[in-house]
Amino acid sequence: MNDKMKELLGGLFVAFLVILSSVIAGFIYLFILLKSEYIAAHDTLGYMIYLVTAGSIYCILLILFRPLVRYKMIAKKGVNSKALSPLGNSPNENVQKLLEVRDLKIGFPVIRGTEELYIQAVRGVSFSLNEGEVLGIVGESGSGKSVTTSAIPGLLPKNAVISGSIRFERTELAKTPADGNSAGLPEKELRMYRGRKIGMIFQEPGRSFDPLQNMGSVFYETFRNSDPSITKEEARVRAEALLSEAGLGNAGERLGNFPHQFSGGQLQRIGIALALAGIAQGSGLLIADEPTTALDVTIQSQIIALLKKLRRTRGLSIIFISHDIDLVADIADTIMVMYGGIVMERGTTAEIIRSPKHPYTKALLSASPGFGSHYSRERLASIPGRVIDPASPGAGCPFAPRCPSALPVCSADIPKLLVQADGQEVRCLPEIIGI
Ligand SMILES: Nc1ncnc2c1ncn2[C@@H]1O[C@H](COP(=O)(O)OP(=O)(O)OP(=O)(O)O)[C@@H](O)[C@H]1O
Ligand code: SF4
Ligand SMILES: [Mg+2]
Repeated sequence: MNDKMKELLGGLFVAFLVILSSVIAGFIYLFILLKSEYIAAHDTLGYMIYLVTAGSIYCILLILFRPLVRYKMIAKKGVNSKALSPLGNSPNENVQKLLEVRDLKIGFPVIRGTEELYIQAVRGVSFSLNEGEVLGIVGESGSGKSVTTSAIPGLLPKNAVISGSIRFERTELAKTPADGNSAGLPEKELRMYRGRKIGMIFQEPGRSFDPLQNMGSVFYETFRNSDPSITKEEARVRAEALLSEAGLGNAGERLGNFPHQFSGGQLQRIGIALALAGIAQGSGLLIADEPTTALDVTIQSQIIALLKKLRRTRGLSIIFISHDIDLVADIADTIMVMYGGIVMERGTTAEIIRSPKHPYTKALLSASPGFGSHYSRERLASIPGRVIDPASPGAGCPFAPRCPSALPVCSADIPKLLVQADGQEVRCLPEIIGI
């Protein structure tokens, strides 16, 4: 069955659930009308009973048939992501490439006990991002997601050893460009450039703020970095506009508040406003490194909705990092799966979720709680074993010790990234992924 057919069947199935719950609720409503002396047809109470019953039955059916419903959600996502190719090489000539990372390697010399070690955090990562695109990066803890993305705005610690190329709007940002044609920018200019083009938000917004500084002065200092002549009044007006854009109520009054006077969700909104402070409308990149992990589910979906809105209204490109592949699928056009400091699979969200090819992506998906799984007796699959030690990753596929499909050859060399006809990239043996 081809993708279009599957998508159509998924849509028909959800439509069938809606009709089925409406019909069942109709029968229950009629039954109540016949039996009750208090409720007459066309009563508001009657309509409410009908709607609540229909809604409840629909939710129960969704939970009962959750594997098919999840499939439909992904099918719907696939329609949005068709416009972009997984490599960022858009078939649409009008879409510009914003970021191009090539063969990025990042290591850290460290001392463990009396031993000098070299941590190979990122081992040759390449990807690109189009203007206005949302790229999701998933992978277990230690797979190199944060180190890869922190290199883009230049936020790695001083001892990081970097090689490869990071080109943003064709300007080389890596300190040690692999591309001999690139002149690169002087360090000070590079910092200014990054501040105007790239913003970053992190997992625990509360920890990013000085508890003794009110928000007004945090914004004032941020604005002064790029414009030393800005007055306090100008800074206040700009901060208020940014905070309102980020959805913080009573923005003007709240500039006098300190971090402990905000909730986690409000602090994340402030973090987003600060990340956007230097970025002009209509461009820019926001890197969101697990921005919702420390928040509860309701606030999490509000922050995702805010990011989607900013993408639409500002033309922002976003790199969204998370352990949760379902959450990433909700916002991303393309997904990159990382493990052991390398890219294991990359493709459009629909391709990755609907037809994952790599054994690690498949394991991540089966370990992800789907809709309604909290009400199920089924146990979630977990990935046995532990991630590799980045100080001695070995020569072969980093997933080999945990991979159910591993062959002896897997431990010899890291497999090549195989590019499928549709652009999906998979780093595994051809005989395992079936090409
Ligand atoms: N400053 C550093 N010095 C030494 N090792 C580091 C440093 N920063 C990161 N690492 C190591 O690099 C590897 C990749 O780290 P990274 O933070 O990118 O992982 P991650 O995928 O973001 O994980 P998580 O999901 O837990 O945030 C890890 O093994 C980490 O311990
Ligand atoms: S290369 Fe081998 S070990 Fe690695 S994911 Fe593929 S089958 Fe598994
Ligand atoms: Mg991280």
